[in-house]
Amino acid sequence: MTLRMTLAASAASLCYASVAMAGPQAEVLHWWTSGGEARAVAVLQEEFAARGGTWTDMPVAGGGGDAAMTALRARVLSGNAPTAVQLKGPAIQEWYEEGVLADISAVAEAEGWEDILPASIAGHMQCEGVWCAAPVNVHRVDWVWANKAILEANDIAMPTTWEEFNAAAEKLQAAGITPLAHGGQAWQDATVFETVVLGLGGPDFFRAALIDLDTDALTSDTMKAVFDQMRVMRGFVDSNFSGRDWNLATAMVMNGEAAFQIMGDWAKGEFLAAGKVPGEDFLCASTPGDGYLYNVDSFAMFTVSGDDNIAGQQLLAELIVGENFQKVFNLNKGSIPVRSDLALDDFDSCAILSANEMTATSEAGSLLPSYAHGMALRGAQAGAITDVVTAHFNSDMSSEEAVQMLVDAVANSL
Ligand code: GAL
Repeated sequence: MTLRMTLAASAASLCYASVAMAGPQAEVLHWWTSGGEARAVAVLQEEFAARGGTWTDMPVAGGGGDAAMTALRARVLSGNAPTAVQLKGPAIQEWYEEGVLADISAVAEAEGWEDILPASIAGHMQCEGVWCAAPVNVHRVDWVWANKAILEANDIAMPTTWEEFNAAAEKLQAAGITPLAHGGQAWQDATVFETVVLGLGGPDFFRAALIDLDTDALTSDTMKAVFDQMRVMRGFVDSNFSGRDWNLATAMVMNGEAAFQIMGDWAKGEFLAAGKVPGEDFLCASTPGDGYLYNVDSFAMFTVSGDDNIAGQQLLAELIVGENFQKVFNLNKGSIPVRSDLALDDFDSCAILSANEMTATSEAGSLLPSYAHGMALRGAQAGAITDVVTAHFNSDMSSEEAVQMLVDAVANSL
């Protein structure tokens, strides 16, 4: 054999080997691009690579995932869906009804998901009797985060009622401090709004208004009071809030430029990524009132062809619910594991509070899906509400007008 023939033969065998052993492949669409989010999703990338997988990253920046969902629609319409997509709540069932999601029941059954996932979470992952998504975490939405030093310097305790929140904010404002770090993006306005609905109205009112879309609740004096409170809070944000990303608002609290932020516990992922310690540098408390608004991140697998892609989807689904990922990812992300069989010894006090209150509210019937994060309503209805909330927040619209607009928008979206 000449050298040339030997080289050709080994090149051919290398080529054959790379085709036969390409291994699990996944193109993953997600919106985890902030510091804490990127640190968390890297855990999945590393585990996937360690098991021989090749990950093609498709990050679409934009908190809350609106831009990611627009990118997803474009990809699916062009007949080229990504293999795995960060998707959650009723959007999972909506995509399943379009006939484009893969059935991952074989993985779910092999891994015993039925036994390790709470029924409330498992329900979101099932479509017409099959498993159609893998759950990542439980984020709590109704949190208030605070800069501890600012509160201490101004002799302010974490607020336990909305009156206390307003009084603290007025005191801070008088001292020249921005009370509320906020980013003027529709989903962030909606995030604050739903915590006020829960806090002022209580869990039953939240359910009636934002889950059942009950007309009486939507037009009630309580809903007017919610818009009144939103107007008051509009006065607590700085003049540059418009369009600001949520993680930059978190950084304002971190850096002492503002006292509070109302945001889900992905904000904690930002504090942690910056080396801040809960209880020392920053404080967490649930927003005033009863109840718990949950937001479960998950991945759905789209129908794709090719053994390597299917192997990639199955491996991802297995890893996502696996013990190691559930622990390490959630330590970074600020959320808590979805598995009910994991010890939380390494988790911080905010996570323990979240887990305890999730159990307590589940028993009390006040564990509720977040509307602002796509857990409670179909896209059209949630979008109709958010449009009104953000239009009100960014204008001088009265609460009466907002309530009328809300009930009309909901009626038109049904
Ligand atoms: C939420 C999502 C979180 C976090 C946040 C900000 O909707 O569930 O994981 O990423 O958006 O981007």
